[in-house]
Amino acid sequence: MPAGGRAPGRRGGGTICAFSSVAGDRARRSNYLYGASKAGLSAFLEGLHLAYADRGVRVVCVRPGFVKTAMTAGLPVPPFAGEPEAVASRVLRAMDRGAPVVYAPPIWRCHHARHPDASAGRHAARALLNAIARAHPGASG
Ligand SMILES: NC(=O)c1ccc[n+]([C@@H]2O[C@H](COP(=O)([O-])OP(=O)(O)OC[C@H]3O[C@@H](n4cnc5c(N)ncnc54)[C@H](OP(=O)(O)O)[C@@H]3O)[C@@H](O)[C@H]2O)c1
Repeated sequence: MPAGGRAPGRRGGGTICAFSSVAGDRARRSNYLYGASKAGLSAFLEGLHLAYADRGVRVVCVRPGFVKTAMTAGLPVPPFAGEPEAVASRVLRAMDRGAPVVYAPPIWRCHHARHPDASAGRHAARALLNAIARAHPGASG
């Protein structure tokens, strides 16, 4: 995938967008293998963003929570579950802005330790999301 950065870099720029997950932000008993792969992907995309930013390559790492898609069909739908169309709109806006990380639905921003929203006044939301994750094992995306 570094080649994925080199090619748009040679063309003078471009955008790479990949779907990671909030599951990569913190481990859960129910899905830690999936979470570990997403944590690796998130770190890789962050590095790719840093490595190619000066060549006009934008890398957007999408970190969804639970979204109602084929992947989650049949699972209990937790609170704050996202609709695919809303997630897609949010991702397209993030690509337009060149935001390196996008959470969808947006409430999951609270899980990003380095996001400014996670520091001040968002601890309660984060605790709530953790409580929901405990009540709905495996439903965090
Ligand atoms: N849904 C969630 O709650 C959620 C939460 C967090 C992160 N994510 C991540 O978001 C991404 C998309 O998930 P989704 O929920 O949209 O799943 P989805 O509805 O099951 O869609 C998966 C897509 O990937 C394609 N695909 C699967 N295996 C493939 C392969 N080997 N080669 C090429 N294409 C392949 C499928 O193509 P076909 O339709 O042709 O099979 C389908 O278009 C995944 O990386 C997932 O981990 C999802």
